Amino acid sequence: MNLIDALEDLRARFEDALKNSAGADSLDAVRVAFLGRSGDVTAVRRSIGKLPPAERPAAGQRINEAVEKMERALNEAQAKAEAIEVGASLSQRIDVTFPSIPPQQGSIHPMKRVMHDVCAYFERHGFAVVVGPEIEPDYYNFDALNIPPEHPAREGFDSFFLTPNLLLRPHTSPMQIRTMQQHRPPVAVVVPGTCYRRDAVDARHLYQFNQCEGLLVDEGVHMGHLKGMLTGMCRELFGSEQQVRFRPSYFPFTEPSAEVDTTCPLCRGAGGECRMCGGSGWIELGGAGMVHPNVLRNVDYDPDVYSGWAFGFGVERMALVRYDVDDIRRFFENDDAFLEQLA
Ligand code: DAH
Repeated sequence: MNLIDALEDLRARFEDALKNSAGADSLDAVRVAFLGRSGDVTAVRRSIGKLPPAERPAAGQRINEAVEKMERALNEAQAKAEAIEVGASLSQRIDVTFPSIPPQQGSIHPMKRVMHDVCAYFERHGFAVVVGPEIEPDYYNFDALNIPPEHPAREGFDSFFLTPNLLLRPHTSPMQIRTMQQHRPPVAVVVPGTCYRRDAVDARHLYQFNQCEGLLVDEGVHMGHLKGMLTGMCRELFGSEQQVRFRPSYFPFTEPSAEVDTTCPLCRGAGGECRMCGGSGWIELGGAGMVHPNVLRNVDYDPDVYSGWAFGFGVERMALVRYDVDDIRRFFENDDAFLEQLA
């Protein structure tokens, strides 16, 4: 066989072998069989010796070209085989149809959610949401709300004083004054906000807590409007059967004044052994009443023309009831599992 035929024969057998090899291992075998020290190429190279010296360089070059081609083909096949093998091993370990681990997601804190829902309810009824400073002078916190300096009600607020005249607000009512100073009637606002009192911490009390205040002033406003709005709010927050009851009470800034209760959402008013309401069937939400004429005078509203109602409810109290939690402190321990349950 002359050299050209021998190389052609080699090429054909090599391509066959390549085609029939599966995987990196059998490609290695092909490499050894053709290009190895005692492989077929070596045998062809040896045959050069039988050629006349003048033909040898050209023959050597042909063989080298053939070897280069084979090496290139082998390398390509090897790369392909490796890629397939890596893919196969990966797909054994990663089941892409398996449900992924969802990223941890935050949620709105239950306290904020209650505040938001109260505000959303009043906004839908035409009220504006306003917020005010947490540090207030005496004047907004007491005097303008008809609590003059020597009034015993000041004691009841157990306030943190920063200076003799400045305090951390113990209620959101000062925003009634600020709002009425800035706007002529009609005014309709709801005020969510943080308040502070020197209270010992227990299952029902914190020294930092939240209130939602409401204020409506216009001509012809009466207590029936108040009861209607609060009943609607309680039904939205706690369920469609909620009732609201007013118990006579006293606040310097309202006359008449009331404590507001709603049907206990746990026993639905049945009472008995209910641990939420202690058997009364009612849950207290906070205070309310008709804005005192002195308060209206303090902001230059004529009490003979205008009347208004106001209320101030504890947000923590509403959250305890809504989520059936027995200790207010649970809300502020940042216990993910607890908060997730309520999300
Ligand atoms: N500010 C009162 C408190 O924190 C609650 C309150 C009572 C607010 C009657 C009102 C109201 O707006 O009319 O104890």
